[in-house]
Amino acid sequence: MSTVSADLVIVANRLPVDRVEQADGTPGWRTSPGGLVTAIEPVMRANDGTWIGWPGGTDADLEPFEADGMKLVPMSMTPEEIEGHYEGFSNATLWPLYHDLVAKPEFHREWWDSYVAVNRRFAEKAAELASEGATVWVHDYQMQLVPQMLRELRPDLRIGFYLHIPFPPAELFQQLPWRRQLLEGLLGADMVGFQLPGGAQNFVRLVRQRVGHKTHRDLVYLPDGRTVRAAAFPISIDAAGFEEMARSEPVAARAAEIREALGNPRKVFLGIDRLDYTKGIYARLRAFAELIEDGHFDVEDAVFVQVAVPSREQVEQYRILRDEIDRLVGRINGDLGRIGRPAISYLHSSYPREEMAALYRSADVMVVTPYRDGMNLVAKEYVACRFEDTGALVLSEFAGAADELRQAWLVNPYDINGMKSALLEAYRADDRETRRRMKAMRKTVTQNDVAAWADAFMADLAEVPGSHGKAVRPAKRS
Ligand code: F6P
Repeated sequence: MSTVSADLVIVANRLPVDRVEQADGTPGWRTSPGGLVTAIEPVMRANDGTWIGWPGGTDADLEPFEADGMKLVPMSMTPEEIEGHYEGFSNATLWPLYHDLVAKPEFHREWWDSYVAVNRRFAEKAAELASEGATVWVHDYQMQLVPQMLRELRPDLRIGFYLHIPFPPAELFQQLPWRRQLLEGLLGADMVGFQLPGGAQNFVRLVRQRVGHKTHRDLVYLPDGRTVRAAAFPISIDAAGFEEMARSEPVAARAAEIREALGNPRKVFLGIDRLDYTKGIYARLRAFAELIEDGHFDVEDAVFVQVAVPSREQVEQYRILRDEIDRLVGRINGDLGRIGRPAISYLHSSYPREEMAALYRSADVMVVTPYRDGMNLVAKEYVACRFEDTGALVLSEFAGAADELRQAWLVNPYDINGMKSALLEAYRADDRETRRRMKAMRKTVTQNDVAAWADAFMADLAEVPGSHGKAVRPAKRS
C-alpha cells in the first residue's frame, strides 16, 4: 500500500484500531470504540485520508496498513516514551492540569523531554506523508507541539488542531513550566478548535498575555503575517447509528435480559465511564447509597449499574482510584445488599457498542457526574438511544454536554446533597416530565451529530484568512 502523498492526514496519539491477540494467538487489529474514530471516519473516507497514531503496546517496526478502508500508519513507542510522553506528561501533568486540578499535576523535566521527542517524531511522519498543500488535522492534548513543528518542516500545509478535553483558565495553565512552548506549539495551526467557547477564550487570552501576540476576538495575529483562529466546535456522536442499534431486535432482547438479570427492579440507574478520577464515580455511588440508607427506596426498588472501563492502569492516581472504588462498592453492597440483590452492580470492563446500547436501553436514570469533562459523549449516546423519549439524564454542570443538554437534571458533583435530590427527582419523575425533557434533548443531539461537527471544522479551517493548502471535501452524510 502506498501512503505517500495524502491530501488529508490525521495525527492523533492513538490509531483508530488497537493491537489485539487473536484466538489462534497471532496478532490482529480491532477497531477501537469511541468518539474520535466515528468522528473522523467520514472525513477520512471522503478524502482518502491517512491516519498516523500509536497502536498501543511497544511493538516496533509495524508497517502501514489498511483497515476498514482507512490508511493507517502505526507509530511505535518505546517503554521509556510510554512512561514519559503518555503516562507521564500527557496523563499525569496535562490531564489533571486541564481538568481543574482534580488531581495534583506532576511536573518533571524528563517527561517534558519525552513529550517533545514524541511530538517531533509524529510531526516528521506527517511532513513525510502529506502531499503538496495537503490538510493535516492534529488531535488532542498529547500532540500540542505538532502544529508548530510541522509548519517549520512544511509551510505549504493547511493545519488544523482540535482539543478533545477542556482548555483551562489562565490562572491554572500558567503553573506549567512549559506554558509558552505549548502555546507556541498550538499557534503553528491555522485554526485551533475547542469543545466550548470558554476554552477558545482562555487560549486567546493566554496567547495575548504570555506570548504577546496581538489578538482580536477569536483571531491571533502573528508577526510573520499569519492569522490563527481559535473557535469552539462541540463534538458529538453518530446519533442515527446509535438509535438504529438501540432499535434493533438483538439489542432490545439484550436490554430485557439485563433487567431480568438485575431482578426486574422498578428503576435501573446507570453510570458508564472510563475509570478516571475526573468522572466523579465515588461521590455519585455514595449519593445513591445514602438515598437507600435514608429510606427513600430499597434495593428491591432500584439498582445502580456502574461500568468502569479500565484506563491508564500504570498511572498511580488511577490505581489509587480503582482501590477506592473497589472498597466503596464492597462496603455499600456489604451494608445494604441482600442475597441476589446488590445495591450496586459493578463491572470493571469495556464492552462493544451493542452492549452499551443495550445498557442504555435498559436504564431509567443515566448518571453522568464528572468534576470536569470536555464534552462527555456517554450522555449524548444515552439520549440518542432513548428513541421512545423515555428515561432521565442526571448530568454534571461541569461536563461540556451540559451546555447543550439543558433539559437534563443538572447537578454540581461536589454537592452530595444536591446530587441526592437530583437522583431522587429523576427516580420519581412522572412520564410526562421525562418525555418533555428527553424529546428536547433528542432534537439537539440528532441535529448536531458528529458529521455536522467534522464538516463545520473543515469548512471553517478552509476559510481562515491566510490559510494555506487545498480544500478538503466535507464528510458525506449517510
Ligand atoms: O478524550 C480524551 C482522551 O484522552 C483521548 O485522547 C483518548 O482517545 C481517550 O481519552 C482515551 O484515553 P487513552 O488514549 O489514554 O486510553
